[in-house]
Amino acid sequence: MAEEIKKEAPKLFKVTIDNKTIEVPPGTTILNAARMIGVEVAPPAMCYYSKLEESGGRCRSCLVEVAAGSTADPRPMPKLVASCRTTVMDGMVVNNYSSERVLDARKGVVEFLLVNHPLDCPICDQAGECYLQDFSYEHGKTAASRYEFKKRIFELEDIGPYIKLHMTRCILCYRCVLVADQLTEKRVHGVLKRGDHAEISTYISKAIDNDFSGNMIDVCPVGALTDRTFRFKNRVWFTKPVDAHRDCDKCCGKVTLWQRGEEVMRVTSRKDPWAEVQTIDGKPAWICNDCRFHKKKINDWVIEGPTVISRHSVIAQGHYEGMIKPKETLPEVMGGRDPKLLMDIRKVSGVNSVDISQLPGPATSETFKKKEQ
Ligand code: SF4
Ligand code: FES
Repeated sequence: MAEEIKKEAPKLFKVTIDNKTIEVPPGTTILNAARMIGVEVAPPAMCYYSKLEESGGRCRSCLVEVAAGSTADPRPMPKLVASCRTTVMDGMVVNNYSSERVLDARKGVVEFLLVNHPLDCPICDQAGECYLQDFSYEHGKTAASRYEFKKRIFELEDIGPYIKLHMTRCILCYRCVLVADQLTEKRVHGVLKRGDHAEISTYISKAIDNDFSGNMIDVCPVGALTDRTFRFKNRVWFTKPVDAHRDCDKCCGKVTLWQRGEEVMRVTSRKDPWAEVQTIDGKPAWICNDCRFHKKKINDWVIEGPTVISRHSVIAQGHYEGMIKPKETLPEVMGGRDPKLLMDIRKVSGVNSVDISQLPGPATSETFKKKEQ
């Protein structure tokens, strides 16, 4: 009789983070164990991106304190560790938001990330969905920066037909480089030079031009890589995100449309609560440039319904699901006339009517010419 082979269930490691305990498979990082517990204990992450191999370990925003290494060796770790690169041990005890030391160190990390940052949020297209903005708001110091030297300055750069690089905003997280390495056939950009001179750029005169390059915009946690077909056309909090899909032979075709009225201002991949591209049918739902840049008409898409923005950000504030419109009373007091609550400002302002979403670049004063009387 064949010997019965009894498979032992893999042993799970017990880890406690901010007094909450969870059991996770060996090899899980502290950051992912914390994400499994929930947003209330998950450390911020500016460079780690679970769908990109080799990401993490570059920004230090995810530092945590290991108060006990394991059941076998309960000594604390002497230094704070990067939770995205440190795996759990059985019996490990971790302090994140409950540690003054961690919170203080994070203030320093924010200060460092902002050392060369232009703080141009009022004119940055990423404002409202920028992780650096949220990170500095939640973890930064209230005092001014101690940095006295001039900040680094770079010319704006078109890297390919669809992407504008604002190097001054880059925090060198390497996510876009990893996207180029892992998603596109030939990488033509990367981090050139080192130390204080390090910058993202393309090889001389090369342009990023391939079907999946637009995903670099989605992974950039700041406003360094912006969508040239969307920049300066709207503020993200004025737009209405809806889930939509189309049949696409290059990608999954499942996207979020960002609408202003009926216009599709922008198309992005769908994001999870960690602002990473969602996993759909077991695969990261990266989208192709065709869906992102060339399908800006509402009838290119099958609308599924409002997107639920579950991340902690100003863009999560625009809830309109289940909205109940107030009962209209004005016609009653206006002798039956409808109020022009939904008037198209461009139609009544006397300037030409332009479909902003169809413009190849930003709208300027030249776009809006006064109509011939
Ligand atoms: S451009 Fe954006 S994604 Fe690329 S390294 Fe800089 S911050 Fe990261
Ligand atoms: S998220 Fe861990 S070092 Fe950047």
